[in-house]
Amino acid sequence: MYYKIVTYGCQMNVHESEKIAGLLEAEGYRPCADGENADIVVFNTCCIRDNAERRALGNIGVIKAEKKKNPALVLAVVGCMTQQDGAAETIRNKYPYVDIVLGTRDISLLPSEIRKVLSARAKAEKGAKKYRCFDNSFPEDYSDIDEATPVVRTSFPNAWVNIIYGCNNFCSYCIVPYVRGRELSRDMGKVLDEVRRCVDEGYGEITLLGQNVNSYGHDLHAKGVNFAALLGEIDKIDGKFRVRFMTSHPKDLTEEVADVMAESAKICNNLHLPVQSGSNKVLADMNRRYTREKYLSLIDMLRAKMPDIGITTDVMVGFPTETEEDFADTADLMRQVRYSNAFTFVYSPRKGTPAAAMPQIPYEIKKRRIGELIKLQNSVTKELSETYKGGVYEVLVEDVAPKYGDSVCGRTESGRLVTFGGSPDLVGKFVNVKITEARSASLFGHIE
Ligand code: 5AD
Ligand code: SF4
Repeated sequence: MYYKIVTYGCQMNVHESEKIAGLLEAEGYRPCADGENADIVVFNTCCIRDNAERRALGNIGVIKAEKKKNPALVLAVVGCMTQQDGAAETIRNKYPYVDIVLGTRDISLLPSEIRKVLSARAKAEKGAKKYRCFDNSFPEDYSDIDEATPVVRTSFPNAWVNIIYGCNNFCSYCIVPYVRGRELSRDMGKVLDEVRRCVDEGYGEITLLGQNVNSYGHDLHAKGVNFAALLGEIDKIDGKFRVRFMTSHPKDLTEEVADVMAESAKICNNLHLPVQSGSNKVLADMNRRYTREKYLSLIDMLRAKMPDIGITTDVMVGFPTETEEDFADTADLMRQVRYSNAFTFVYSPRKGTPAAAMPQIPYEIKKRRIGELIKLQNSVTKELSETYKGGVYEVLVEDVAPKYGDSVCGRTESGRLVTFGGSPDLVGKFVNVKITEARSASLFGHIE
């Protein structure tokens, strides 16, 4: 029996798909190679923007043909999209060939629901009713974290490790708090155990995950447990490995965390710090709870402690109240900060969020603004790439890069991608690479 998981969205979803794989493999399913027929297909969905949702629904539609060829196929839709108001009903009515819909807190039910679908099918000859599961219930008082779900890791040499689930921030544009619920931190001992296990298994990079890693521990009410303390404890674990984390909310990033980053050997000089907008008015309307000045002072503080830190961001254009002046403030902030990379998004109204109820900006304006930001960031990235030329950097080899001949690629501590000549057996190893060429976002070099 073979399974296929189609994943949309962020790293949190990528890691959740590793857990889904763990559950299915424990049931005896094996991963299906490209082009092979699967017995179960799981869509792990995202709903952060309209295009993510439309892509998932489109592909669920495409599966209909596959299901016709292979009626034994079990089709499951899980993840954020299923948790939106009315989503389960839409899937129930519009996609009658979907067998299972499970919400973000129910993944561990997947194996038992598959068994129910299969047993109902086995009985179908005797006139039994087709079984379909639509369980996206979301208990408001949930407090248990499922620690028992097995994980089949798929991103060696990087291992994703959850530290906090959910989000309490309610940025006015964002659907995440509605579909992922309130913040729930994992026990620090359990996080440390998982990191130790990954390091023992040879993972060279650990990425700590959470919608807002900086609020780690607030809900645990345990003395001395916070994000800085967690980083400090992870840094003490024996072995050669690197630690990254995402995402940090600027309102919660403390100087204490920056100090641990600067002093530690293993925590990378690399930070993802979403700014969203450079205008104080828009930041207030977004309910971000920091100002442009506060954000810029954080950047100064970080660079004073770690001059070579690579800082990346998320930035949005077309929020309902964004004027040309506000947009100019965002572009200006980006010029000032000089991010090593920026993920730029066009604001997409999400049903049920406060910003979706405001008068919206025409798409043409959003399109022009995003084009300008991308161009601006590309030129900054290119300039920063040039500064790497001639330097020697430690790189963790992540993958082969056949596009460039017998080559491999990996990242510097600051998070920049480097491609260089090398054999596949280097994947997972640390090597020193001299940078000889810079092409916009990509660096090239050779092993020193
Ligand atoms: N429209 C566009 N982008 C969004 N993001 C979150 N919600 C929306 C939305 N409604 C962006 C933010 C966030 C990133 C993960 O996605 O920039 O940091
Ligand atoms: Fe969404 Fe804001 Fe929470 Fe990030 S911090 S997940 S943008 S509500």
